[in-house]
Amino acid sequence: MNSISSFKIADLFSIEGKTALVTGGSSGLGLIMAKGLLENGARVIIASRSAEKCNRALSELEAFGDVVSVAADVTNAEQRLKLVETVSERFGSLSILLNNAGANWGAKLEDYPDDGFEKVVSTNLNGVFSLTRDCVDLLAAAGSSGDPARVINIGSMDGIHVPIVQRVPTFAYSASKAALHHLTKALAVDLASKNITVNAIAPGFFESRMTDHVFEHFLKDIEDDCPLHRVGQPQEMVGIVTYLASKAGAYTNGTVIPVDGGTSISKGRRDWTE
Ligand SMILES: NC(=O)c1ccc[n+]([C@@H]2O[C@H](COP(=O)([O-])OP(=O)(O)OC[C@H]3O[C@@H](n4cnc5c(N)ncnc54)[C@H](OP(=O)(O)O)[C@@H]3O)[C@@H](O)[C@H]2O)c1
Repeated sequence: MNSISSFKIADLFSIEGKTALVTGGSSGLGLIMAKGLLENGARVIIASRSAEKCNRALSELEAFGDVVSVAADVTNAEQRLKLVETVSERFGSLSILLNNAGANWGAKLEDYPDDGFEKVVSTNLNGVFSLTRDCVDLLAAAGSSGDPARVINIGSMDGIHVPIVQRVPTFAYSASKAALHHLTKALAVDLASKNITVNAIAPGFFESRMTDHVFEHFLKDIEDDCPLHRVGQPQEMVGIVTYLASKAGAYTNGTVIPVDGGTSISKGRRDWTE
């Protein structure tokens, strides 16, 4: 066993000076996690499809540190290339790839359109795979065996259990997130030799544009379905990302960590009235 050096939180959980790319960083959880990274001394690039949303987010984030935004669709090969080039020019290497961009589609089975299914899977699964592959050289350049580069995928508790509270089925979403959890493990095994770890966070309900509708109509059901009887709070996402991105999380690899107050392991109610 190596001699004990320091277990001070300031050192163990430090992400000072790391470089991070946050997809879907223009709103919701991505914006929150980008702010958390910046406030703790990381340099950040946020990306999402809409230039307008990116600029709006940038003006919110600039006060907290070194951040730029790139309008890029993770499902588009050309735009991904432009994004990776920006990362390379600005940082030269990449310590943290936070694959957070995501989409959802809800419809009854008989009405569920093929193009809706494809859109969700291509954003939540294919986009993560392709961007991670495209960033491997930059990640490998940042990683070492004591301090590997980190890929952090934002999965969902809906990839663990079958979601019920939103009433309208979200087949593509839960299937894509379950596949993303498994992809996380496959990539973790493959990339370990390059000093890159890959983990997923599986959030429960947090307030965002994606959950606007369900929060407005079914907040009580969401709370009832959670053993802690509440939704998640922004700092609870920032906390888990900080753990996974810092020295404290360096040996955590290939995991899927639920941050859902225990919702995905509880039985859930199926007797709500419409
Ligand atoms: N909120 C929750 O309760 C919850 C729970 C579990 C998991 N999650 C996951 O958390 C992640 C963030 O979701 P959110 O709740 O924060 O929703 P959100 O506010 O709708 O954020 C989604 C983000 O992804 C971007 N995006 C969508 N498609 C994209 C694409 N093809 N390429 C690049 N960016 C794209 C959006 O910006 P543009 O429109 O500009 O592209 C936006 O910035 C998602 O992966 C979601 O599945 C959320």
